[in-house]
Amino acid sequence: MSVPNSEVSQKLYIETYGCQMNVADSEVVASILKEKGYDITENINEADVILVNTCSIRENAEQRIWGRLDVFKQIKKNKPELTVGVIGCMAERLKEKLLEEEKTVDIVVGPDAYRELPSLLETAETGQRGVNVILSKEETYADISPIRLDKNRISAFVSIMRGCNNMCSYCIVPYVRGAERSRNPESILKEIEDLFNKGYKEVTLIGQNVDSYNWESENENLPALSSRQEGGRQGKSLKFAQLLEKAAKISPKLRIRFSTSHPKDMSDEVLYTMAMYGNICNYIHLPAQSGSTKVLAEMKRGYTREWYMNRIMAIRQILPDSAISTDIMTGFPGETEEDHQETLSLMEFVNYDFSYMFKYSERPKTYAARHLKDDVSEGTKSRRLTEIINLQSQLSERSKKADLGKVFEVLVEGISKKSSEHLFGRNSQNKVVVFPKNDFAIGDYVFIEITECTSATLIGIPVK
Ligand code: 5AD
Ligand code: SF4
Repeated sequence: MSVPNSEVSQKLYIETYGCQMNVADSEVVASILKEKGYDITENINEADVILVNTCSIRENAEQRIWGRLDVFKQIKKNKPELTVGVIGCMAERLKEKLLEEEKTVDIVVGPDAYRELPSLLETAETGQRGVNVILSKEETYADISPIRLDKNRISAFVSIMRGCNNMCSYCIVPYVRGAERSRNPESILKEIEDLFNKGYKEVTLIGQNVDSYNWESENENLPALSSRQEGGRQGKSLKFAQLLEKAAKISPKLRIRFSTSHPKDMSDEVLYTMAMYGNICNYIHLPAQSGSTKVLAEMKRGYTREWYMNRIMAIRQILPDSAISTDIMTGFPGETEEDHQETLSLMEFVNYDFSYMFKYSERPKTYAARHLKDDVSEGTKSRRLTEIINLQSQLSERSKKADLGKVFEVLVEGISKKSSEHLFGRNSQNKVVVFPKNDFAIGDYVFIEITECTSATLIGIPVK
């Protein structure tokens, strides 16, 4: 057992950018450092250590971090003893270059090296700057109990795997987060149970590609796992559908969500598991990226337009009430007007409830950066993105209007930003619902009949 280091009594401020995985990682980092005596603060001005957990997914994500480093530089002018650390994906991508280019930065730590943070911070105190960006094939931080940095204490992310093996041609993730590895299911289930016992009502199981979750064990005595005979070797394996089921069984009062699904791997088995348990939310985020089979092939996504449509039809058939969202990227090298139209028509076909929409941004080292010319002009990318956003606005409105008159069970998350007399929460489909406060409290489940909607929100009244 590690003993808190009583010599450290410093205040730590963590700022997080990027995806849910980074949010979860910051909670692991907070746990590692709290164990060593650091106090977490939400006030940057009282921090002795600032860590910024970074994202490299698009050029503009990195630009934002450079902007923040300028701000930290100003803070450090008045407080030279302040330690600044860059952690996460941009740390992994730029490595020592970050120290060379930015004198404000004292330490640079990649996503698989967070256990080294205490010693790197210790070294930084002596004036030495340090880098650890070693990627691991095994690290899942399975034994670390994350310190929740969220405010509402209702909903938490639980990381089930790390890294990615897909190598989509545009994507930096495999380079900055390393190879895919699944986390021990027992540690995942224990973390979820602990959260439930602390009063959490919702967990989101996260990984770059949850459908390829696969835990292999040689241990015959693990009752959690089903037997499998392969190549004469008796072993045990647990796939995502089974993990999902075990998580759902912890309590019907605990909602289970997950992200991100991959169209090439999303199995009917997962959909049937979702259908079987009312507490597994009816919401699937299924990034399409493009509606053109030709572009999908260039992206090395591993599926065609038709395959994707088939997966959507399976969702519609097995989970008719499910909401579906997606990621769309426009302006990939070689994308023609015809390809763009195919993306728009796929969006219409699916009738997405929600989309995250991006312009292609060339990332160094990726296959696309090495082999494909970023040949769609900025003007064309902008115009296509606007068309995609406009279409999604229509689809989102359609999706909300279709909910008028329906009754949903809503998990209350907080007080509405617009009115202290109203609460907000989400339904199973992940749509935000606003309703009168009455005597309800954060964390309650409330049945709401939808009476109105705006472009982003459903509005309703409680029903018995
Ligand atoms: N440029 C633009 N968007 C990207 N994404 C991933 N890589 C890039 C890139 N190079 C988008 C994809 C992915 C989401 C997380 O970010 O749509 O699903
Ligand atoms: Fe998350 Fe990818 Fe950004 Fe890293 S680069 S924070 S994995 S979105």
